[in-house]
Amino acid sequence: MSIILKTERLHLRRIAEADLISLGRIYADPECMQFYPGTKSHSATRTWFQKLAFDSYDRHGFGLWAVVDASSGEVIGDCGITLQETPAGPEPEIGYHLWRDFWGNGFATEAAVACRDYAFHSLGLPRVVSIVSPENIPSQKVAQRVHDRKEVYRKQLGESGVFVDRYLYISEKR
Ligand SMILES: CC(C)(COP(=O)(O)OP(=O)(O)OC[C@H]1O[C@@H](n2cnc3c(N)ncnc32)[C@H](O)[C@@H]1OP(=O)(O)O)[C@@H](O)C(=O)NCCC(=O)NCCS
Repeated sequence: MSIILKTERLHLRRIAEADLISLGRIYADPECMQFYPGTKSHSATRTWFQKLAFDSYDRHGFGLWAVVDASSGEVIGDCGITLQETPAGPEPEIGYHLWRDFWGNGFATEAAVACRDYAFHSLGLPRVVSIVSPENIPSQKVAQRVHDRKEVYRKQLGESGVFVDRYLYISEKR
């Protein structure tokens, strides 16, 4: 599978069907999913990557990619660009999910910065964002390192109709 992005310690490449086993453990894990509505079954994870990886590659040429530790070749998580609804409409959003053994090493920031630069310089996008819930402090720290500024907006959750705050971290091509 060809490498899309290389950083000092990581490779990002398209996700293959075989990666869904190692990526699935992230989405099935209560600690990794603590700021999501819940964990995902294998079939829910398959649906997630069908939309945000496989279909997105075909439609947009980008999506969630596999984050590979360049020294070991191990898939440690996903990071990439997907279209997500924001107050400005559907926008390219950088998302990141790592297996918890790899937290605390700067890998998510390294991958997300590379995705931001790829969005600007290879995809020619003028603006990329990250959407983070106010409770997800680790993700906010990553987003603060990647993006230039933050806005707050209200969003109505589809499942319950409840209104919640979301932080919108924004980078614009200079
Ligand atoms: C969000 C998530 C990827 C953040 O992981 P993380 O390990 O905290 O983030 P990074 O990989 O960028 O690592 C940053 C930390 O590593 C530390 N670090 C250690 N060595 C480092 C190095 N060589 N370079 C940079 N940072 C380093 C930093 O100091 C930082 O610690 P701090 O946040 O306490 O200041 C992780 O919590 C996760 O996968 N969560 C589950 C999925 C999720 O919620 N995703 C976000 C949805 S919005």
